[in-house]
Amino acid sequence: MKALLVAGARPNFMKIAPLYRAAQAYENLECLIVHTGQHYDYAMSQTFFDDLELPEPDHYLEAGSGSHAEQTARVMVAFEKVCLKEEPDLVIVVGDVNSTLACSIVAKKLLIKVAHIEAGLRSFDLTMPEEINRMVTDSISDYFFVTESSGLDNLLREGKSEDAIFMVGHVMIDNLLHQVEKLKDCDTSGFAVAELKQRHKQYLFMTMHRPANVDDPETLKGIVDCLNKIAEDYPIFFPVHPRTAKMLKQFKLKLADNIFCFGPLGFRESLYLWQDAIAVLTDSGGLQEETTALGIPCLTLRENTERPVTIELGTNILAGNQPDGIMKAYRQLSKFFPVAGSLVERRECLVPKWDGQAAERIWRILLP
Ligand code: UD1
Repeated sequence: MKALLVAGARPNFMKIAPLYRAAQAYENLECLIVHTGQHYDYAMSQTFFDDLELPEPDHYLEAGSGSHAEQTARVMVAFEKVCLKEEPDLVIVVGDVNSTLACSIVAKKLLIKVAHIEAGLRSFDLTMPEEINRMVTDSISDYFFVTESSGLDNLLREGKSEDAIFMVGHVMIDNLLHQVEKLKDCDTSGFAVAELKQRHKQYLFMTMHRPANVDDPETLKGIVDCLNKIAEDYPIFFPVHPRTAKMLKQFKLKLADNIFCFGPLGFRESLYLWQDAIAVLTDSGGLQEETTALGIPCLTLRENTERPVTIELGTNILAGNQPDGIMKAYRQLSKFFPVAGSLVERRECLVPKWDGQAAERIWRILLP
């Protein structure tokens, strides 16, 4: 079998790494990596390929930034050429970014089977571009690989055949568990953030990049005011996404001195910081799940989540993006703080099948 493994943006790289690694065990499988170039800066892309032990992609599409239509169209045009040249039996797309949508449409129109990893997640919020990407991708996929029971319920409700849905666990957690072990043997003294971590025994870790949080000046100002208040209790370590950096500058918003900002981090440096944080503040989808897997308290700066299992387990709290909600959620979350360290010790599999074996399960299903 020849399979194309598609990745475009930062959160995709963590998901293709375990699939690529597990693929090497099969002689009857040729697995090629296609990088669409949706994320292209060294810190948003190459550093992940290095940390995650991924080889150079077989195809790099140079899609770059732009409006959603421009970006999606550029990926589609370039990916169609790759499919025509490679004639794969299968295209594997992960997650919910524009590249996921673009490549699934191209493959399906060329009558190539499509497997969607992380299928069935729904926020029911169509103002999120990712929700549209998830729904369209799932409407044309042939195989649905599901991470949590809500994904299964959503797909069945949407009329998908039970035979095409597979609850396999989560490839992103495969990667996380692999990297937690790697980090134990890694010399971290060269990390740019090592000195910062040594100086502060207790800290919060923060990421934020969603348009709903950073593109509107009033909303971003409200969030910044809350962060400045929270930083009176604990220092906040904040790797800043390019979009957020641009908006903070444009709206002339000032973060407190106790908020330590730096550029985007590679996977290992980021994990090195957040796995020992007393809590994580984020609007990322993946970090909600990764903190859940390691039992770390998480405050999510969103009104909803397409990953309800993270809420059900109690480690993740939805705060919304308005000051009252954020401060209320922070007070609620701070009840966990004295036990945060011991929560991290409880690394048994908290969600069914989030055990590091998802990629193996996927290939066993896909390969004849
Ligand atoms: C994309 C995904 C989002 C994911 C996020 C992770 C979509 C619709 N969104 O959002 O689901 O959570 O990635 O980061 O696919 N930029 C750079 N360097 C880069 C890449 C981007 O400076 O390497 C800047 C550009 O100014 C660009 C902006 O960041 O316009 C946004 O990038 P884009 O890929 O459009 O969306 P993200 O906000 O990163």
